[in-house]
Amino acid sequence: MHDLTKEPWVNYNYKDWLAHFKENDQARLQLDFSEEPVLTDAQRKLIFKSIKAFQMGEHSEGMYLVHLAEKFEKDQNEPPFAETMLLFIKEENFHSAYLAQYLLHHKEPKAKRNKLDKIFRNLRHNGKLFTEIAVLVTAETIALSYYSALGNVADQMGSKALRAICNQMLHDELPHIVFQTYTLSHFGNKRSKRFFRRFVMRCTTLAVYLMYGKLLKAGGYKYRRFHKDNFAYLKQSINMAANMCKKD
Ligand SMILES: [Fe+2]
Ligand SMILES: [Fe+2]
Repeated sequence: MHDLTKEPWVNYNYKDWLAHFKENDQARLQLDFSEEPVLTDAQRKLIFKSIKAFQMGEHSEGMYLVHLAEKFEKDQNEPPFAETMLLFIKEENFHSAYLAQYLLHHKEPKAKRNKLDKIFRNLRHNGKLFTEIAVLVTAETIALSYYSALGNVADQMGSKALRAICNQMLHDELPHIVFQTYTLSHFGNKRSKRFFRRFVMRCTTLAVYLMYGKLLKAGGYKYRRFHKDNFAYLKQSINMAANMCKKD
């Protein structure tokens, strides 16, 4: 577990976030498959179902999110939020591309549809930026446990390329959680909002474990740990949002 409250990101405004994403954009991961092992059928069965789902989930055209971001920027007088959001979406699309490269190397087709992805997207698109970001940050929190588990499985398989992808994801997703938290803090600290976030986390934690529990377990995440870590990060995010509210 990482203590996000100790990171400098907690004091960032949108100008700082824009600089952060611009800096990340200068140094993207270059994957090296020269030492990639041939995977056994059992290994393929263990990893590809969830990798395909996350590859799809990380990808976004972002039109809807950008539209809401432009409105938020105007309403809250918070430039450069929309521009920052564009770079954030670009970074997420890099995440999707890393996983796509891994699938391609192993000649695995990408997923055409995924039930969980559909549920997530439907849940997000209710016309409110708060809902969009609250659901998005839930997925990103869960991704921390997922990529930690997948990284452990990559080590077991001897895949340096997959380990590098997981490290990059963890490096990028930790600040994403603080970035989304900052935006959520603009919507106040009402009980109903905190309830909504806990409710989404409860449903998602269960659904993801039901679908990808085998991989998570193989990577050291039994349900208890998965649940505990997800809710501990949620608690950090809720507390950070409350403190950020007070600052304004
Ligand atoms: Fe991502
Ligand atoms: Fe993210």
